[in-house]
Amino acid sequence: MLEVRHLTKRFKDRVVLDDMDLTVGEGEVFGCLGPNGAGKTTTMRVILGLLRPTSGDVLLWGERASKNAAVRSRIGVLLESDGIYPRLTAYDNLDYFAQLYRVRSRKARIEELLEFSGLSDRAQDKAGTFSRGMRRKLGLARALLHGPDLLMLDEPSAGLDPEAQKMVRDLIVKLSTESRISVFLSSHDLDEVQRICGRVAILQRGRIRLVDTVKALQSSTGNNGIEIVLTDPSLHDEAVRVLHACDDVSDVVGAEGRLSLNLYEGRGGAALAAVLESYGIGVEEMRRSRRSLEEVYLEVVRQEAEQ
Ligand SMILES: Nc1ncnc2c1ncn2[C@@H]1O[C@H](COP(=O)(O)OP(=O)(O)O)[C@@H](O)[C@H]1O
Ligand SMILES: [Mg+2]
Repeated sequence: MLEVRHLTKRFKDRVVLDDMDLTVGEGEVFGCLGPNGAGKTTTMRVILGLLRPTSGDVLLWGERASKNAAVRSRIGVLLESDGIYPRLTAYDNLDYFAQLYRVRSRKARIEELLEFSGLSDRAQDKAGTFSRGMRRKLGLARALLHGPDLLMLDEPSAGLDPEAQKMVRDLIVKLSTESRISVFLSSHDLDEVQRICGRVAILQRGRIRLVDTVKALQSSTGNNGIEIVLTDPSLHDEAVRVLHACDDVSDVVGAEGRLSLNLYEGRGGAALAAVLESYGIGVEEMRRSRRSLEEVYLEVVRQEAEQ
C-alpha cells in the first residue's frame, strides 16, 4: 500500500535521504528506527507530500502520490506538532477537524474515538489541561477521524512517561489488530519497535541499513549464541571445563546446568552436544539464543561507524 522507490532528499548539497527503498503492506505495523538526525521525520514528510523529494517516487495504493494527491486522504497523521488547540475541549478539537475533513455522522464518530482513546470522561475538558499522554491520545484520535487506511506516526510515544507510552502502544496494537489499519511509525526506541512492529527498517544517516521482520532480526545470522541445558545439573563444572577446552567456544556463562556460550564457525551445536556426551555429560536441551533487537541495532550502527 505504501511504496518508496529510490527516494533521495537533499537540502542544498546535503543528502538527508539517500536512495531509499521500502514497502509497507496492508495491516502491517512498520517501524522506521534510527538515531536522531537519521532522517525519519524527513522520510515521513516526503511521503506525506509536505516536502518534495529531490528524486524518487512515493506510491500509495499503487498510485504515484505526486500525480494523484487525493490518495493521501487515506492517510492519518500524527507528527510532532499534533495540531491540537489547547483552548478547545477534547470534543471540540475533534469536532473542528471532523468538519474540516467532512466526516459523516460526526457526533457518533467523535464519541467512538473518544471511547477508543479512553478520553470519554475528559471530553469536555480543555486540551491545554491534559497530560502529555492524554494529549497524544487525542492527537491519535484526531488522526483517525476520517477513517484512514494507513496511519503515519512520528515518534508516537516520545516524551511520554512509561505508563503513557504503554497506553499509546496498546492503542496502536489495537488499531492494527482490530481495525486492520496499517501503521508506519518512526521511533528511536528499540524496545518499543520490538514490542509493536512486525517489520522494521534501520535508518542511519539517510540510508536504510537493514529491513527485516523483528522476528528474523532477533534470530538472524551472525548470532553465535547457544544455550544449553544439561540433563544432570551436578555435571555443570565438568561441562564448563570441557567447553573451555574447545577452541571454537567462548564466553561460557551460567549456573546449575544452564549454560550459554558463543560458538564460532566450523561445527554446529549438534557437534558440540556430541563432545559433551562423549564425556558422559547429557544434553537435555540446546538452542540458539535470541538476540534482542538492540544487539542487532548496535551491530548495524557500529558497522556503519567503522566504514
Ligand atoms: N528543512 C531542513 N533543512 C536542512 N536540513 C534539514 C531540514 N530538515 C531536516 N534537516 C536535516 O536532515 C537530517 C535528518 O533530520 P530528521 O529527518 O528530522 O531526522 P530524525 O527525524 O530521524 O531525527 C538532520 O541532519 C537535519 O538536520
Ligand atoms: Mg524526527
